[in-house]
Parts: sequence; structure tokens; C-alpha cells
Amino acid sequence: MGGAAPAGRDFLPPIETVSWRDGAVRLIDQRRLPAELVHMECRTVPELFSAIRELAVRGAPAIGVAAGYGAVMAVWKSRSGTAGLLREVAAACKELAASRPTAVNLFWALDRMNRTAESLSALAPEEFRERLLAEARAIHEEDLELSRRMGRAGAELIPDGATVLTHCNAGALATGGLGTALACVYAAVAEGKRVSVLADETRPLLQGARLTAWELSKAGIPVTVLCDNMAAAAMQQGRVDLVITGADRIAANGDAANKIGTYGVAVNAKHHGVPFYIAAPESTFDRACLDGSKIVIEERSAAEVLGIAGWVGRGQEPEARSEAEGSVPVPGVWNPAFDVTPAELIAGLITDRGVLRAPYGESIAAAFGGRG
Ligand code: MRU
Repeated sequence: MGGAAPAGRDFLPPIETVSWRDGAVRLIDQRRLPAELVHMECRTVPELFSAIRELAVRGAPAIGVAAGYGAVMAVWKSRSGTAGLLREVAAACKELAASRPTAVNLFWALDRMNRTAESLSALAPEEFRERLLAEARAIHEEDLELSRRMGRAGAELIPDGATVLTHCNAGALATGGLGTALACVYAAVAEGKRVSVLADETRPLLQGARLTAWELSKAGIPVTVLCDNMAAAAMQQGRVDLVITGADRIAANGDAANKIGTYGVAVNAKHHGVPFYIAAPESTFDRACLDGSKIVIEERSAAEVLGIAGWVGRGQEPEARSEAEGSVPVPGVWNPAFDVTPAELIAGLITDRGVLRAPYGESIAAAFGGRG
């Protein structure tokens, strides 16, 4: 592990996004990247709830992995008997499920932890906790393995010398340690291909400019940051060979929710004849959700949008701005964190079961079974 991406072997970025440490959920505090690499430890459910809500940990698979460990952390020091532990796990899962609404991986991981807890109800408390931790570790390890498989499938779509445009961060920082969209780039580079990446900055929270640029630079992979409004011009000038992004939830018909701005990238890609792919593991597919119109889109605070324009101080809500500071009223803000890219704009879904093609209703059902 470590250093510049080596050609010819499996490459794992030396980034421990989420881990279990002595009864705590240890996270890279992604709010502080790229200025500093700092870890934080969540020891209570409210601490982990805030870390997810405020994007200290973010990215659909990473949130799922963190929530899995969170369900264990909730009972690690408890003195309750097993029936009490079961209730405490259920309460923790309910609380964590309210942290963010769009990434289905969160609910998938919490359901899995709840079901596991129920299946352990006959065990003594000590063994109950150990087996619950084993399940959280399994979610983490499986995520890494699915990323490896996705990476190998996606690498086949990346020609030697290609430039890949991506939006938001769908790398090691967004997952159990390798990535979805960036797993394809890491795998292509490990196969010896020369690949460079254009990273949309990703307003308002700059996951592309801060996180994608940081982890690719750290891995020695050439990356160029673009403001979001430059992606169309880059495609017009022939600077983009293909687009790969991640997703937070993919409906049964292939419509995919991802970071706000992804839809615009897909429309631009279609116009310019650039293939637009989405990479996601099975845990991101919500087969009970029939199409993208049913996906709940998180709306976030006005401060995230107005802060950079100087209307409010960092982290300050518009209401906190006193009249004395200026007589011009603060403008309204619409700040959806995600948008939905219709299936018809997607050239392929890169998954741990290979690259799925349209019609997605059929290919998703064939890969993962019927409605989940
Ligand atoms: O708000 P965020 O940073 O959690 O949004 C993350 C994304 O939109 C990612 O692209 C998505 O989770 C896929 S990550 C592998």
C-alpha cells in the first residue's frame, strides 16, 4: 500500500476513511481536507449522527460502513442484557437513519445490522457484541471487495491515454477504502494504462476540488480541477474521453441519484457524444424504488451556498445576519444535495457484477434479482 499508483498490480490507496478503534468509529474528518489530514473518533450515536450529517464522513458506501460500526459502538460499553442490547441497537439504527435521506447504502447497512442483531438474540451479551462487530467488519470488507470488482469491470472501458471526467468524490474517501468511479481509474492505472482525471469542483461543498483532487494527487495520478461551469466547454473542445461518476441511489429502472450537478454533466455528455457511466456496488441499488422520481433528495442549508459569496460568515445561517450589517435583504437559496440522472442518459452501470446496459430494468433485475 502507498505512494504513487504502481502499474501492474492491485492498487489500494493508503487512506483509512472509516475504521473501528477500541469501541469508537474512527473517521478521516473530510471537512478539513485538503488542508490537513485529521482523524476523529465518534464514541456516541449523536457524535456519529453529526459526523454524517455535517459530512465529516460522506459518500454513499462510506456512510453505510460507518453506520454499521455505529450500531456496534452504540452497545459496546452497555451493561444491558441481550434483550436490552437488541433494543439499543434498534434505537441507534433509527437515530442514524435520520442523518441523511438520499444514500440508500445507509439504510441498507442499518437494516442489515438490525437483522443481524435479531438473529443473535439467544446469545450472551459478550458474544452478541463480538458477532455484531464481525458483521460490521464484513460490511466493510465486502465493500472493498465490490470496489475491486467494479474497478476491474470499469477499467476495461478506459482506453490507454484517456481523460476521465468525474463529479464529486467517488473514491477511497467515499467508500470502504477504494472507490466506485475512482476504483475504475485506480484499476486502469494498475493495469499500466496512462489515465488522467478532470475533477469538477462540485459546488457547494467542493468534494471534487478538495477530496478527489487530494486523493488522486496523493496516488500520483494526474488530476486537473475544473469549476463546474467548465465541464461543457471541456467536452466541446474534445478534452473528455468518458465520464464516470458514483451514485447514492439507483432505482429499479436505472435512474440514478448522485451529487447535484451530475445530471447537467450527463446532458452535456449526451450532447457531445461522450459516454457517461455510473459506477456503484449492489448496496446502492434500490430495487424497491421504481424510478428516480421516488428518490428523496436531501436539501441542505442556505449557508453552504451563501457563505462563499460573502452574504454570511462561514457556517452562519442567513437569519443570524443582523440588519446593522447591511440593509440589503439576504437572497433566498435552493440547495438540493443531489439530482437524478435519467437512465436514458447513462451509457452503462459499472457494478461488481460487470457493466450493465440498457434496458436497465432487465439488466439490473438479471444482475441482482427482482425487487429488493
Ligand atoms: O454529499 P456527499 O459528499 O455524501 O455526496 C456523495 C456523492 O454524491 C458521491 O458521488 C456518491 O456518494 C457516490 S460515492 C462512491
